[in-house]
Amino acid sequence: MTDPLLSVRSLSIGVTRGSTDPTLIVEDVSFDISKGERFGIVGESGSGKSLTLRAIGDLLPRGVEVLAGSIRYNGTELVGMPRSSRRKLMGPEIAMIFQEPMTALNPVVRVGEQIAEGPRRYLGMTRAESMARAIEMMAKTGIPDPVRRARAYPHELSGGLRQRIMIAMALSCDPRLLLCDEPTTALDVTVQHQVLRLLEDLCDDSGAALAFVTHDLAVVNQTCTDLAVMYSGHIVESGTVREVLSDPRHPYTQGLLDSAPDFDRPERPLIPIPGFPPNVASRPSGCPFAPRCPFVVEACRTAMPPMVTVAPGHGAACIEADRISRELVAR
Ligand SMILES: Nc1ncnc2c1ncn2[C@@H]1O[C@H](COP(=O)(O)OP(=O)(O)OP(=O)(O)O)[C@@H](O)[C@H]1O
Ligand SMILES: [Mg+2]
Repeated sequence: MTDPLLSVRSLSIGVTRGSTDPTLIVEDVSFDISKGERFGIVGESGSGKSLTLRAIGDLLPRGVEVLAGSIRYNGTELVGMPRSSRRKLMGPEIAMIFQEPMTALNPVVRVGEQIAEGPRRYLGMTRAESMARAIEMMAKTGIPDPVRRARAYPHELSGGLRQRIMIAMALSCDPRLLLCDEPTTALDVTVQHQVLRLLEDLCDDSGAALAFVTHDLAVVNQTCTDLAVMYSGHIVESGTVREVLSDPRHPYTQGLLDSAPDFDRPERPLIPIPGFPPNVASRPSGCPFAPRCPFVVEACRTAMPPMVTVAPGHGAACIEADRISRELVAR
């Protein structure tokens, strides 16, 4: 078997700002992404999805740090690598798309210029070549009249067009890994669908792998091949999208599915997960989902259950994984 493109092992991330005792937010997270794979990371708000993705791109906010673990890209360890070397990977190897393009785009620079900057800096293109590349990328992302639009400032474009500019920018150096943080959440549903299709097509064409953060299982189902479900800083279940969504073994994944609309069974009532996610600063010991879990047993409250393999390539961090499966079949 070939080595994965990205291999994250026992990654822990914490808030260190103003404290000698960091608050652990992401804990012991491990996953692999192969070349060309589309890997979804799904979970409720605050579960640590964005921080996990940002750690891969060396884009953690100030005061938040990788405390332990390893992030290997194409066999090279990224944790501890000097920032200058790491920044050279961003663009030609790894690129990131954010939820709100306005925060990532420079408001006073024309969008064509912003797309051209990467190819000029990383691929050694001349000014004219890089502008031609920017316009080519804008056309590829379905932006009408790209020559004229390249001269626009971000505020002159709609949300959907701005997100396409971000995609054009991220893909302009032909990266091998694209990190996407809720890239379509700010868009209306029809535009969201178009942008997702576009991302899938562009990744198919270039062979780029995708790490895709979202809170929306339907988006993961449409876009990804594999997924990890995060709850309160931990991966609680992972596997292929088909396997995990058809045979969920962690009660949190089950809760997510029960609380989301099922378009094949519109008559099914939506069942919200009772309670609230724990505050990261005061997480319970043991499984963080235990206080909300319908399957909880005493042992869940003492130690975080290890990830167990429930089927080939499908793991769940739950000691009641088999019972959950039986009860679901009986339902
Ligand atoms: N800059 C920061 N400083 C301090 N704490 C932070 C910072 N960014 C995030 N956190 C903490 O880390 C937790 C996880 O944040 P993260 O942004 O990864 O969540 P998320 O899963 O992406 O949620 P959402 O779906 O809302 O985007 C947050 O609940 C917050 O407590
Ligand atoms: Mg987030």
